[in-house]
Amino acid sequence: MSEKLKPAARVAGQRQDVWSIINEAAAASPKQPVVNMGQGFFGYNPPDFILNAAKEALNRVDCNQYAPTRGRPRLLKALSEAYAPHWGRKLDPNKEITITTGANEGESRPAPERHLLDLIDSGQGMLSAFMAFIEPGDEVIVFEPFFDQYISNIEMPGGKVVYVPMHPPKDGATKTLSAAEWTIDFDELERAITPRTKMLVINTPHNPVGKVFSREELQKIADLCLKNKIIILSDEVYDRLFYVPFTRIATLSPEVEQITLTVGSAGKNFYATGWRVGWLMGPPHLIQYVSAAHTRICYSSVSPLQEACAIGFEQADAHNFWTTCINDMQAKMKRFNAIWDELNIPYSIPEGGYFVMVNLAKVQIPEDYSFPPHVASRPRDFKLAWFLIQELGVAAIPPSEFYTDANAHIVEDYLRFAVCKPDEVLEEAKERLRGLKKFLKQ
Ligand SMILES: Cc1ncc(COP(=O)(O)O)c(C=O)c1O
Repeated sequence: MSEKLKPAARVAGQRQDVWSIINEAAAASPKQPVVNMGQGFFGYNPPDFILNAAKEALNRVDCNQYAPTRGRPRLLKALSEAYAPHWGRKLDPNKEITITTGANEGESRPAPERHLLDLIDSGQGMLSAFMAFIEPGDEVIVFEPFFDQYISNIEMPGGKVVYVPMHPPKDGATKTLSAAEWTIDFDELERAITPRTKMLVINTPHNPVGKVFSREELQKIADLCLKNKIIILSDEVYDRLFYVPFTRIATLSPEVEQITLTVGSAGKNFYATGWRVGWLMGPPHLIQYVSAAHTRICYSSVSPLQEACAIGFEQADAHNFWTTCINDMQAKMKRFNAIWDELNIPYSIPEGGYFVMVNLAKVQIPEDYSFPPHVASRPRDFKLAWFLIQELGVAAIPPSEFYTDANAHIVEDYLRFAVCKPDEVLEEAKERLRGLKKFLKQ
């Protein structure tokens, strides 16, 4: 191929990414159809009051045209009101909130055949934040395991990712423990800070670990950021799914609020990841530049679905929706995780979100089992994922993809399962996972 037709390094990844490995493995499995507990999309629809709002919005002329770049006024107002009880005051809808195309985005995996503009346009709340503040060479601290999109989004404006690992519970291979037991070493975090550290990304409730950072942990992180003048980007897309008390880092103090951008996602809130509606909230001196970046990246975000989300927020309490979300997801967690209790396989009990990390150290893959080269060359969790897909027809995600190569060993016995699926699917997965019995070390 001519040199000039070569894709830019930022999109031409060398290694096959986890999503295509798992999807290809699922397509090749003899156990069809595979029960897909891999990717975190919902296996059911938003409730009718939100779906109907979307359908009605499509009939309105103004809803089918460009939304204002910062977002439709009705959604900005609805967010300001919906978040007021959590912030202790109403955020200014015109200065402290901006609507984006998803909190981040779900699809910009390295794909040389896609055009960069497609890549950027398909979603970009956090991308807008990085584009707004990162200059080439600036450092951004990210905890491992990370949501994979952070990395390319930081690198696009020339940022350097500095990784700090989260450590699983010491007894994780033998005991089922709370996801709270995954911890940060604060000395390690402090050592990662340099004069070039511009931002720090935190995710709570956490994907994939299921941890909800405690107030004390958030305070320590915030103190370090205040001391070193670091912007906090708090990814709170699972903010309506918490099973223990949940603190928003921006609400710790007025000083912390001044350096914090909080990210939200209607896709996660309303079971509609394909709608691509997200937002950032923060002080005007940060939000104005995020809005400026957003305008240049994709101008404005999908209009009728913003209207539907506005109505979703306006009516959620009347439908008891937020409580139902928590109760339903907790019931799914309980239903699904019963299989691990039955098999005596340990897992991290989620404090929030819809993922569960399961420690499969006890699973013995037969020694002569053959893997394709792109799986054989990866850590054990990739082999476990492949094995489960081929032998049982259940797909899960190997989390070492969300660690750097140097730290991948930390999670090589874990797999991540997404439980945001209908109960029948969870029951079918459990039935198939019983097939693990004959591969368990005693
Ligand atoms: C931690 C985290 N942040 C951001 C996102 C992206 O959210 P959205 O679909 O609104 O872009 C996801 C989606 O899986 C996620 O898990």
